[in-house]
Amino acid sequence: MMNTEQLTKVIKNPANQMSFADEGRAFKFETNGEKALVEYNRDGISSTQKREIEDQIVELLKSNFEPQNIIVKTNSSQTPTQQPQAQQEQATLKTGHGPAMAKKKRVPGVERILAVASGKGGVGKSTVSVNLAISLANQGLKVGILDADIYGPSVPMLLGKRDIKPRASESKKIIAEDAHGIKFMSFGLFIKEEDPVIWRGPMLGGVLNQFLFDVDWGVLDVLIIDLPPGTGDMQLSMVQSTEVDGAIIVTTPQDVAILDAGKGLKMFEQVKVPVLGVVENMSSFVCDNCDTLHDIFGADGGAKMAQRLGVKHLGSIPIEKALRLGSDTGLPYMSDRSHEGRPVWKAFSEIAKTLGSKSSEKGFFGRLFNR
Ligand SMILES: Nc1ncnc2c1ncn2[C@@H]1O[C@H](COP(=O)(O)OP(=O)(O)OP(=O)(O)O)[C@@H](O)[C@H]1O
Ligand SMILES: [Mg+2]
Repeated sequence: MMNTEQLTKVIKNPANQMSFADEGRAFKFETNGEKALVEYNRDGISSTQKREIEDQIVELLKSNFEPQNIIVKTNSSQTPTQQPQAQQEQATLKTGHGPAMAKKKRVPGVERILAVASGKGGVGKSTVSVNLAISLANQGLKVGILDADIYGPSVPMLLGKRDIKPRASESKKIIAEDAHGIKFMSFGLFIKEEDPVIWRGPMLGGVLNQFLFDVDWGVLDVLIIDLPPGTGDMQLSMVQSTEVDGAIIVTTPQDVAILDAGKGLKMFEQVKVPVLGVVENMSSFVCDNCDTLHDIFGADGGAKMAQRLGVKHLGSIPIEKALRLGSDTGLPYMSDRSHEGRPVWKAFSEIAKTLGSKSSEKGFFGRLFNR
């Protein structure tokens, strides 16, 4: 049976064809004879490459262990293994920009910054960010969206703007792009989809700073930051780069997701960002031809969930096929008026109304955002 050292010499990182040993990648292999536990540092490894690595490990260990007894875990650190490969066209990212700014600055021209976070991945954070942004714009606000998810930037796809090359203004600022009545900027516009994106914590802070301060956002009432999933250091450093005025947490009705949403809440508490509330996504199901909400997860889940988490329930978005289709085709649901009156439309509009109201009594703009 191979030992730890031998394994690191033969396992190759598909991102650069180097062995784990050559890369100096942290790697652990433990066994009790029956089970094999492998753990490695996943920095800079995409989910496809992660699967390739898992296949290699299983292949190497399958003569000694049953496949179901081979457990492969990953962890992450702040240590870079390779420089990022930002795709440089007209506008460029100053990669390696330095640590997150110690002193928080306001973004010029931007009235409010709203972070959208989730403890768990895949709960619909980007879908909510994009459609909420458009709903706020539908109400007359000037809205921007900053896609801060560098491992899986999806905003360009959701807005149907994947092939755009960011442009630089005369004053060397990156010009925020327009789509469906909102402005946006995304890491996705700087990298090729097949590129391994390798970033590290301090650099992340730097790149986020650049997206906040070196992008010409124009005048915005609200800038929404679509954060990467999770509640790690990366998210923390991101919300610490600037004064974030409020955060909303997106979660699905499942217990695990709610538990993770709780971690998200704690993270914002730690950095003293007010949590405006929770949006329950995929709360119920609505079919194509009717407006009836099918409560497959039970009724009033959202309100109960918010109570459990001790925050405000901003709204519940049902599952509707058109919402996913809109995302897949780059025509966001809320930009298509033919959906007006549908349950999903109403839900987003209600949330936008609550968040966007400038009257001091009703909305967060007046009440919570007072500074
Ligand atoms: N209410 C909904 N009804 C139907 N489909 C939905 C709904 N919400 C999200 N989806 C679909 O679920 C998938 C995941 O959503 P999305 O990418 O917004 O999640 P995410 O939390 O941003 O994921 P990640 O953690 O990868 O960033 C997408 O295909 C999206 O279209
Ligand atoms: Mg996302």
